[in-house]
Amino acid sequence: MSIVSSSLARIKASPTRAISARASELEREGKDVIALAAGEPDFDTPEHIRIAAIEAMNQGKTRYAPQGGVPELREAVCRKLKRENGLDFAPAQTVITTGGKEALYDAFIASLDPGDEVVIPAPYWVSYPDMVLLGGGTPVVVDSDPDNGFALSPQTLEAAITSKTKWLLLNSPGNPSGGVIDRAGLEALADVLRAHPHVWIMTDDIYEHVIYDDVVFNTIAQVAPDLHERTLIVNGLSKAYCMTGWRIGYAAGPKTIIDAMIKVQSQSTSCACTVSQWAGVAALDGDQSFIAANNTVFQERRDLALSILNQSNGLSCATPGGAFYLYVDCRGVMGKRTPNGATVGSDEDFVKYLLDSELVAGVHGAAFGMSPYFRISYALDTARLEEACLRIQRACGSLEG
Ligand SMILES: Cc1ncc(COP(=O)(O)O)c(C=O)c1O
Repeated sequence: MSIVSSSLARIKASPTRAISARASELEREGKDVIALAAGEPDFDTPEHIRIAAIEAMNQGKTRYAPQGGVPELREAVCRKLKRENGLDFAPAQTVITTGGKEALYDAFIASLDPGDEVVIPAPYWVSYPDMVLLGGGTPVVVDSDPDNGFALSPQTLEAAITSKTKWLLLNSPGNPSGGVIDRAGLEALADVLRAHPHVWIMTDDIYEHVIYDDVVFNTIAQVAPDLHERTLIVNGLSKAYCMTGWRIGYAAGPKTIIDAMIKVQSQSTSCACTVSQWAGVAALDGDQSFIAANNTVFQERRDLALSILNQSNGLSCATPGGAFYLYVDCRGVMGKRTPNGATVGSDEDFVKYLLDSELVAGVHGAAFGMSPYFRISYALDTARLEEACLRIQRACGSLEG
């Protein structure tokens, strides 16, 4: 009998693992590998947030947090949702989690029965389908529209909904595409959802603040207040506040689902790190101006990478409105031959070729459920990013056929 459970056997190992393992191997050989795979800002956590954590430690705020989270942080989350999203929540309708990841995971564990379906638009963040599987549910992957900024169309949503649909999962700005669903797009989805009152909406708003140009962030409960009662908002501090390692996320929604999530949390992590929660209060209540400053840098990098990649043979990428990723269409290199005589038959082949020939590590589109694409993160030093994109351009130029 296997020591590994059958439910875990249904989960795939991280699809980025093979490419990361190869990248580390090349690094160990002393090669100058540029990794474009990380989903985290390269900026440090702002000083006022770090100071709040130090003060919390010195004041002895180092014990277990109360169930659901430090009350001051739950209140700060409510203030944030009112201030930025125009939404009313009571602290009891929030839960503080160990990253947005735990919020998503707890929500699925708390809500899914065998056979329950979760509609997940592709390209999706790699963890969604596996979290649904771990929760005992069934991921129903549907394609979003690459010609419309990777937004989910109302027709596709309508076709995907069955009597077993429990959740629609939305993620805008999205990982890996950076796509943003605008207000009209959300209104169109809301129209479909109104006709299916049994479907709940989980909206992963973690890239809310990482937006560019004249993009305005909208979350569905704001656009369609009548859906508020069946919407769970998931958000966190990792991305905009440069706090990936602090592990603070949160969810806000109807008390039934929040209470169920707190129950899951009480039997797993107990609470998110107390010191980090106090840092989170400073993050949400404190100065927000660094966010715009960071976005200016990200936007410059986005535009730099786009201009080089769009001048590369066989690649094309539309300008995404948010997050810090480019999801590059590479169908133009499919079927071409590398200088070693190998044929590029898939996006995974292409990503391996980029790593072996030019020491650039990206992630193949198949990992995100839509091919042939590859994802790069531009959350790294601008000069290194430019060098990486020039290497990709050179690799494309060396393909034949
Ligand atoms: C779309 C999306 N959701 C959630 C997360 C989870 O972030 P964290 O657990 O650090 O808050 C990530 C991290 O990469 C993400 O890209």
